[in-house]
Amino acid sequence: MTPDLLEAGAQRTHAAQARRVTHPTESGGRTPSFGRVRQHHELDLTHGRILYLEDVCVSFDGFRAINQLSLDIAPGELRCIIGPNGAGKTTLMDIITGKTRPDSGRVFFGSTIDLLRHTEPEIAQMGIGRKFQKPTVFEPLTVFENLELALKTHKGVGASLVFRLQGEQRDRLAQVLSTIGLIEQAHQLAGRLSHGQKQWLEIGMLLMQEPKLLLLDEPVAGMTDFETERTAELFLKLKGQHTLMVVEHDMSFIEQISDIVTVLCEGAVLAQGPLAQVQANERVIEVYLGR
Ligand SMILES: Nc1ncnc2c1ncn2[C@@H]1O[C@H](COP(=O)(O)OP(=O)(O)OP(=O)(O)O)[C@@H](O)[C@H]1O
Ligand SMILES: [Mg+2]
Repeated sequence: MTPDLLEAGAQRTHAAQARRVTHPTESGGRTPSFGRVRQHHELDLTHGRILYLEDVCVSFDGFRAINQLSLDIAPGELRCIIGPNGAGKTTLMDIITGKTRPDSGRVFFGSTIDLLRHTEPEIAQMGIGRKFQKPTVFEPLTVFENLELALKTHKGVGASLVFRLQGEQRDRLAQVLSTIGLIEQAHQLAGRLSHGQKQWLEIGMLLMQEPKLLLLDEPVAGMTDFETERTAELFLKLKGQHTLMVVEHDMSFIEQISDIVTVLCEGAVLAQGPLAQVQANERVIEVYLGR
């Protein structure tokens, strides 16, 4: 992106933010600054937004799955996305991760990285981690080996090369094991873990790659109540250190973790705010929550 485009883009972002004067933002009214040269792909959070979507549209065979969707997320936030089946929640994640290209609109990571100019692997490498619903851990390997592998894969170390964990990486692995609550299972085969433990391991594998933004699609589906509660604790721990976007239908889980909730419907934002507020919204009750 040339500096001119970059500045023009930031100005549009700023203008869009200015239009929302009635809604105070967490950025505290900061304005764009272009005071120093940034390194390629360095995440610029000076606008107080880690993710920014504007007027995004996606159609599949003439069907508008995403319809002029605009959304932004502050660094360190834990944003919950809810909404009826087919609302476009998974498609939203597909767009952010580069799996689906929108027909129009803008998608930025920080204020300078135009995600629409990058491929899926590049986006992952830049620090956007995604967890799909089905756990994809390597069952014949131990928990420890899975975490080690996540690090190797991320670093692009070929399988034939001898790879030894450096001290710092060892510390991180130990820390991730503790965060996901699997210290005691470290040397157990992943195939022998419960469904919930596999999900935590997969989140741990993402954490090994030190993502800045984590996208989690229905993370507690199929979990027991106990596992769901542990997952809520895990997400609350991760909040602040990482930015999380969590799609879920389990409202008791949303209740435990939610800060700001975005309700998607027919590919656009129907409502947004604290859970109690969106739960009281007539349209949300009508299309999703029921009476
Ligand atoms: N690759 C695709 N090709 C055609 N249609 C698609 C494709 N991906 C999604 N859709 C359609 O787009 C709409 C949004 O789907 P999406 O999977 O994003 O919904 P969702 O909000 O994640 O729903 P759920 O809560 O059931 O997971 C649906 O009508 C779906 O059928
Ligand atoms: Mg979905």
